[in-house]
Amino acid sequence: MVNVTDIINEFGECLVRVDGEIPVDLPAKEGDRFLFISNDQSYLTHGLHKYPAKFFPELPRWLIKRYSQEHDQILDPFTGSGTTNVEALLSNRNSVGIDVDPFSRFLSKVKVTPLDEKELKAAQKCLLESIIIYDPSQVSYSEIPNFPYRDNWFNKEILVELTYLRKQIQLLNTCEEIKEFFKVCLSSIIRSVSNADDNCTRTVIRKKLNKLVKPSDALNRFAKTVLAKVPKMTEFSQNYPHDISVDFPEDMDARNIKYDQEHFDLAVTSPPYVNAVDYPRTHQLEMYWLGFAQDSLTDLKKQNVGTESVSSQYYNKRHEIGVPDADKVLASIFEVDPRRAYIAYKYLDDMRQNLSEVYNVLRKDGRYIVVVGNNRIRGHLFENWKYLMPIAEETGFEVETYFGSEIIKHFIKVPREERINTDWILVLKK
Ligand SMILES: C[S@@+](CC[C@H](N)C(=O)[O-])C[C@H]1O[C@@H](n2cnc3c(N)ncnc32)[C@H](O)[C@@H]1O
Repeated sequence: MVNVTDIINEFGECLVRVDGEIPVDLPAKEGDRFLFISNDQSYLTHGLHKYPAKFFPELPRWLIKRYSQEHDQILDPFTGSGTTNVEALLSNRNSVGIDVDPFSRFLSKVKVTPLDEKELKAAQKCLLESIIIYDPSQVSYSEIPNFPYRDNWFNKEILVELTYLRKQIQLLNTCEEIKEFFKVCLSSIIRSVSNADDNCTRTVIRKKLNKLVKPSDALNRFAKTVLAKVPKMTEFSQNYPHDISVDFPEDMDARNIKYDQEHFDLAVTSPPYVNAVDYPRTHQLEMYWLGFAQDSLTDLKKQNVGTESVSSQYYNKRHEIGVPDADKVLASIFEVDPRRAYIAYKYLDDMRQNLSEVYNVLRKDGRYIVVVGNNRIRGHLFENWKYLMPIAEETGFEVETYFGSEIIKHFIKVPREERINTDWILVLKK
């Protein structure tokens, strides 16, 4: 294993560093901590669009190959941008990705759908030509989508350019799948040509940034994106195994998985963190442009595990999850912030439902692999992974093993406990 080395980090701790491909038979003892260095996070269709807290492809690839066989059925109940599904497909496994977010399902679907090379190139040519002959007068005011604070989020010229590009994609004389691929390309530039901060998971305008977006930026960025992404999609389509299925059912939730008992051989996921990314808010501009939302995102937010949209009738009293370590922390949070305490409690309760649903649809001896980190809530360390293990056992799972994957933030001034962040990989066996 030439790419595997033992190292000591700057805090004197032993880690196993793995560069690139993770060997399927990598020795991993309970509690081992790994520093995985990804070689290529935008390999094939993986880099089509940004998505917060997405897997680096080597991780699900390794877990899938280690814990399943070709043609098995793999599930990701919090599929996000579909990294697990792309990797399952490339490893000749069938898969299902569940996500409550329509944007996630749309993006994931595009990432696993092969396209005809000739048709794709012809459509690309058409689009690039339409950019050369761009004429804003071809866009009428009524074609510009209407959504909350639209004119704050985007400059006038950009609104017209984006509407023009969206219309050109719609007018393409090609199949729906190719149009959808170009819609994802368009979506991938939306944040960068908006007035919102490019580098924040929340969609916010920061006056201090003085972000400068110029006329033609949307056209130029879209053209560059298309030129970069079409070859990636072409390469993906050439590698596509034809007898493998991938589904993203619309009417499911990680807490309500409508598949037959024992349908899946393996489940791999990274659930949301409590109190962390507000996914609907992260993608709100993209959702408005893609037509997945017109106004309020509250209903979608409420469906999210870890949601902050909770009603005061629930948080005026203390709730206990039944795991002593978790209940101790929940009680301390409750003293300073009852609402946050309820959000954290509800997160664990939702995860309990998810564990029970996955248990039901997994075959006997099948594994559920959950990649989850810790976070801080009102100054208290909330060790999700430690609390999820007894909850999983209560559901019927055996905790087979667990190991850490380090995420190192190289900010000198960040205190030690925030500089090292470990995602824990829990291997649960039915
Ligand atoms: C950490 S992300 C997953 C990222 C994914 N591993 C990837 O590589 O892109 C968590 C996902 O869980 C989804 N989610 C939140 N609540 C959900 C629920 N109740 N059912 C299904 N998905 C949910 C969010 O929309 C988000 O896409």
